[in-house]
Amino acid sequence: MSVPRLRSLSGIKPTGQPHWGNYFGMIRPAVELAAHHDAMYFIADLHALTTVRDPVAMRRDSHGIAATMIACGLDPAQSILWRQSDVPEVLELTWLLSCVTGMGLIERAHGYKDAKAKGKEINLGTVSYPVLMAADILLYDTDVVPVGKDQVQHLEMARDMATAFNVAFLGAPAGGTVDDEAPWDGRQLKRPKAIVQRDSAVVPGIDGQKMSKSYDNYIPVFAPPKLLKQRIMAIKTDSTPLEEPKDPTTCNVFALHALFATPEQQAALAVKYRGGNFGYGHAKLELLALAEAHFAPQRARYEALMADPAALEAILADGARRARAIGRPVLDRLREAIGLPRLPL
Ligand code: ADP
Ligand code: TRP
Repeated sequence: MSVPRLRSLSGIKPTGQPHWGNYFGMIRPAVELAAHHDAMYFIADLHALTTVRDPVAMRRDSHGIAATMIACGLDPAQSILWRQSDVPEVLELTWLLSCVTGMGLIERAHGYKDAKAKGKEINLGTVSYPVLMAADILLYDTDVVPVGKDQVQHLEMARDMATAFNVAFLGAPAGGTVDDEAPWDGRQLKRPKAIVQRDSAVVPGIDGQKMSKSYDNYIPVFAPPKLLKQRIMAIKTDSTPLEEPKDPTTCNVFALHALFATPEQQAALAVKYRGGNFGYGHAKLELLALAEAHFAPQRARYEALMADPAALEAILADGARRARAIGRPVLDRLREAIGLPRLPL
């Protein structure tokens, strides 16, 4: 008897071009999981809407993410790739989950706390961001979610919301610990598990902070060669003079080099750092060569996809149809548990 495959699901916001942090933290592991999971990945445009106000950028960046995922090896015929907003069921589930989610849980969310601490104006979308994210995951009975470390708290919240719903409507015991090893009953919301890469849980940006589309510190996966060089040359380093030995363990260039290098290449670079007469400029050129070699083979595919928006739209429309066919029955199952009628399609 064949064992059913686990479902892997993740999302990425169209708030700029995908970067090395997205690639090593989420895109590459997600593509690898697709080999032996039912893989579902989406463009989180509704999440991006908490900040994006430019429709041209929204469309362009959504295509950029789809093209990057496919160029990096995701087969959209085998896996499901779609735009979050094309499956309206996710918004209904967001409301259902909102009604079992305590404010205490929401107030502990990092994104909300950071925005509040920085005195930013907070819209309601930012407050409900983790609820929408839980709906993204729970709508499809997801088993595993490949993400960077920054998303682990959101995954914990999704698990808590699943439990709250199961307790409220599906007979799960209140207050008890949940046994994640117990077989799933086919009715309750499944509690998903995060999958975080050990070596690329937090990829640093060119300023040493977490690389993010929200800070201007990122290196796009398919940056044109000139921009790639510019960004790498702009990586912040200390001012140790060229001739002096340098400490690889505190250097951003060295940390980024590790993402592309073999252990031997990384060890050889450490020796050069410690030996002196080797400047950060030299290390940057080594990083540039490795990064170019890593992404060059996929670049042509990325550019061809970006030049054909109609083909990308067709892929996303097909993905949305297939995602909906999975999500709709789950929502119907929940509506029934709550005491709402199933909706005709
Ligand atoms: P950004 O922070 O650039 O806006 P997203 O929030 O859209 O990126 O993140 C998409 C995925 O990429 C998430 O799984 C996130 O954890 C991962 N990710 C983003 N930045 C990094 C990073 N610097 N290191 C590792 N993973 C990251
Ligand atoms: N919040 C995630 C991020 O900023 C993106 C995201 C939205 C997501 N929905 C998701 C990731 C569901 C995993 C699963 O990176």
